[in-house]
Amino acid sequence: MTGNAPRFTLTRIGNPHSVREQMIKDVRTGLTARHKSLPSIYFYDDYGSALFEEITRLPEYYLARAETEILETYAYDIIAAIHPDELVEIGAGYARKTRLLLTAIHEQEAGSLYVAIDVSEASLRHAGALLTESYPWLRVEGYLGDFGSDLGAVPRHGRRLVAFLGSTVGNLPREQRPGFFRAVASMLGDEDGFLLGIDLIKDEETLLAAYDDSEGVSAAFNKNILTVINRELDGDIDLDAFDHETKLNAETGCMEQSLRANRDVRARLDAIDLDFSLVVGESIHTEWSCKFTRDQVDEELAAAGLVTTNWWNDSEDRFALTLARRSR
Ligand code: TRP
Repeated sequence: MTGNAPRFTLTRIGNPHSVREQMIKDVRTGLTARHKSLPSIYFYDDYGSALFEEITRLPEYYLARAETEILETYAYDIIAAIHPDELVEIGAGYARKTRLLLTAIHEQEAGSLYVAIDVSEASLRHAGALLTESYPWLRVEGYLGDFGSDLGAVPRHGRRLVAFLGSTVGNLPREQRPGFFRAVASMLGDEDGFLLGIDLIKDEETLLAAYDDSEGVSAAFNKNILTVINRELDGDIDLDAFDHETKLNAETGCMEQSLRANRDVRARLDAIDLDFSLVVGESIHTEWSCKFTRDQVDEELAAAGLVTTNWWNDSEDRFALTLARRSR
């Protein structure tokens, strides 16, 4: 009998003090550099997480639809390959696509635990409430933290399927990916699996539309990073002085999002006594969304001690899910 044990728990794995210290360091370095930048993790306050959820519903944002199609077709096979006791999702967000995996888990009488890791407390609570309501057999553990540093703090409860969907891996700068994949590999036992969502290299027109939609949601999402900085660090950055910009870097295969000053800008962040300025045309880089080939993914996983066992595409070859295990 589990009695009245709560079916949703929330645990903080990042230390809030060091989270703030990190933000201060990132912002100070990023906004005083010659090539200005802000780490994309700061997009995802509660409002930013809701805006991103809106992006995933845009007709131009093919990523979410293509990945959903793959899960609709292959969730059963994915679960059958691992038969997990727990589904652990990194950067879970609102966990909408996760439902397809949970349904397959239930059909196959695999586990009854869903573990979500995210930087947004509101997203975790939202996912926890909706999923426990939809699935009376499910327990949900939410872990609030940064998947770039805190993965090792998530306790293990048996055979694991670790999922990292939405091609979020493409948001990690190239030099951070090896360390991230090694951290994932060290979460896995011999029987466990790692399910990775990957956006594939494709034509520029499709990519540009996905990152600069006609309704302006992408632009609002991008600018929200400035709202977050203003709020957290008592700043006066004028959002209207910036335009959303996205372009394909053909050399790296990455979409690069930035905020470009449409006039000379001076701003102050009172909480950290920082003044900074941009000249008209100068930009703040906010996000990479790198796109991949299959060989590239296999290689990067192999370098971290992971071996690809399955690869599934959507019908238009825009997106892929790969299942990997620890290599022995
Ligand atoms: N993780 C999302 C992606 O890479 C982030 C994103 C989507 C984004 N649209 C954007 C970031 C527009 C900045 C601007 O697909």
